Amino acid sequence: MTMNTSPLQFFKHIPKQHGLMDRFARKLTYLRISVTDRCNMRCDYCRPSSDAYQAESHANILSFEEIERIVLVAADLGVNKVRITGGEPLVRRDLPLLIEKLASISGITDLALSTNATLLGKYAQALADAGLNRINVSLDSLNPLRFRSLTGGELEPVLAGIQAAKDAGLTPIKLNTVLMKGINDDEVIDLIRFASDMEATIRFIELMPMKQGMDWEKHYISVDDILQREEVRACVDMSPMTTGNTAARYLPLKDGIGEVGFIMPMSDRFCEGCNRLRLTADGGLRSCLPDDSHMSLRDVIRQGGSDEDIRAVFLRSALIKPEIGTYAFDADTEKRSMIYIGG
Ligand code: GTP
Ligand code: 5AD
Ligand code: SF4
Repeated sequence: MTMNTSPLQFFKHIPKQHGLMDRFARKLTYLRISVTDRCNMRCDYCRPSSDAYQAESHANILSFEEIERIVLVAADLGVNKVRITGGEPLVRRDLPLLIEKLASISGITDLALSTNATLLGKYAQALADAGLNRINVSLDSLNPLRFRSLTGGELEPVLAGIQAAKDAGLTPIKLNTVLMKGINDDEVIDLIRFASDMEATIRFIELMPMKQGMDWEKHYISVDDILQREEVRACVDMSPMTTGNTAARYLPLKDGIGEVGFIMPMSDRFCEGCNRLRLTADGGLRSCLPDDSHMSLRDVIRQGGSDEDIRAVFLRSALIKPEIGTYAFDADTEKRSMIYIGG
């Protein structure tokens, strides 16, 4: 649902010092920006392996200048954390140029990137030089054959990319593993060990039912089920999980060094502390991952809108942010696929 801009007049009169606060007194300080809906992998949970997903044309995608302008307004409204996502953000040409622009915006104190790491060997140093602070990497398997069948890509450049990021100082590094029953749930311990050896933090994510994603009913497994396993209990300290406004909850590892994270959108929503807004590659501002309503900042900008108009879209988005994101608990959801939204 895209709305026309006339109802925005009301929001132009809200004084600046209110920042971005939603109806549930949550402060929205974190903007996730997808810079492309294209990807060089084909993860089954994110998009279909066939090319049924039709990527947006380049003309529909926000330019770096448009993104910069949006972030300037967002920073003025109190946003201090920006994460670049995709698709795969590094398939967007000259990404370090955007990083450089965003890193120089006053008020943005945490500038991060979520990536599949395939191209990090090439770009890690340039990203660090441009001012990127840190990266999070998708890593669903350490078995090369399994990795290939799951993602359509190769494991080796991913591991090299993680190392390159470490060498370039893009730390702390977080690894994200989507848990899939019967596919990779036997690798939990191996992944924890790998992360620990890399001095990275691993987070296990519950599979969300997305349109065009994999068979959710067949492959969903809850974090709770994982934590019941003896071999997991042998290495994870089962003290109460951390809380806070991050999506992940953490438990310490028993060997004393490091922790393991869990992102549980299905079994234990973290909406209460949510501080996020999302900008899709084609300029839609979304207030909640599983909620398809949005307003097009691209249309506002390309129709000659002022910074005040952009600001009004942010304020409106904050106002319509749902208290809790709602997923259909079956595989029949109509939600847009993750590759479009940016995770
Ligand atoms: P940090 O800033 O390092 O804490 O990272 P992050 O967890 O905010 O970002 P990341 O891109 O690493 O998130 C990993 C995955 O967690 C996303 O791709 C989503 O699958 C899931 N996730 C993150 N934020 C949300 C959220 O607000 N709602 C839901 N449902 N899932 C989320
Ligand atoms: N369920 C959970 N996480 C998903 N992601 C994409 N699709 C899903 C899904 N269906 C997230 C994961 C992954 C990144 C590319 O997007 O974090 O690592
Ligand atoms: Fe925030 Fe929506 Fe995610 Fe809940 S589901 S944490 S409200 S983005």
